[in-house]
Amino acid sequence: MSSIQADRSRPIGVFDSGIGGLSVLRAIRKELPDESLIYFADSAYAPYGDRTDSEIIQRSREVTQTLVALDCKAIVVACNTATAAAVAQLRSEVDLPIIGIEPGVKPAVERSLSKRVGILATRYTLSSAKYRSLVERFGATAEITVQACPGLVETLELPGDHSLRLAQLLDTYLQPMRAAKIDTLVLGCTHYSFLSEAIRTRLGTDVEILDTPGAVAREVHRRLAEVSALAQCSGTLPSIRYLTSAKDLAHSSAVVSKLMESNIVLEHG
Ligand code: DGL
Repeated sequence: MSSIQADRSRPIGVFDSGIGGLSVLRAIRKELPDESLIYFADSAYAPYGDRTDSEIIQRSREVTQTLVALDCKAIVVACNTATAAAVAQLRSEVDLPIIGIEPGVKPAVERSLSKRVGILATRYTLSSAKYRSLVERFGATAEITVQACPGLVETLELPGDHSLRLAQLLDTYLQPMRAAKIDTLVLGCTHYSFLSEAIRTRLGTDVEILDTPGAVAREVHRRLAEVSALAQCSGTLPSIRYLTSAKDLAHSSAVVSKLMESNIVLEHG
């Protein structure tokens, strides 16, 4: 029996540059309610989307090592930017299932009737080789309008209500999507999941919004089942620990509690 099967109750580690990956954590909790989870928000280094390759790889490596040291049985890179920059490197260094996330270009092109698709993501993701390869493989039959969204991640990471600033940024970034008359919009950054209602209000119900946390959760399920490492039902709800690299725990706890609609206390990671 390999070590991954030896203790199926080991937690799954999930990380993002900040709070965006909580959208993936929520989806994993729903898909796999018997699993213990550890979430790492690398908020001291957010946003990743404006950083260099080597900075993102270095941070992804350090966070992954923290999660491995906490005995995680799988690592979920709940960040499109870190997946584009670092997932191949992490897979070559860590002997655990490592599941990434990428913009849903393929499902969007398949579902779009008009074949006019929009993609919102970070600057880094949109200029990455991984994204270019996605578009080459699956985007050829569609007209794709892309928009980088600097400012959205930073604003979502702030405590308090910043709906006015978010509304201004969304109005600006969704304008090219309206002009292009898209019928399908891909959310290519996990932070943007928390804005899907505000985006829907602006684009109307004729535009389908495609988000990938659910698909990632199903992939985590499939990968753990493949190696017989799914937790068994213990009758009690397994734990979720929240770690952060941010110095100000009160600030980070407030941001996470608001998004998760629950009182959450973060620990230093
Ligand atoms: N949430 C991240 C993503 O999915 C990145 C945000 C950032 O730090 O730039 O791309």
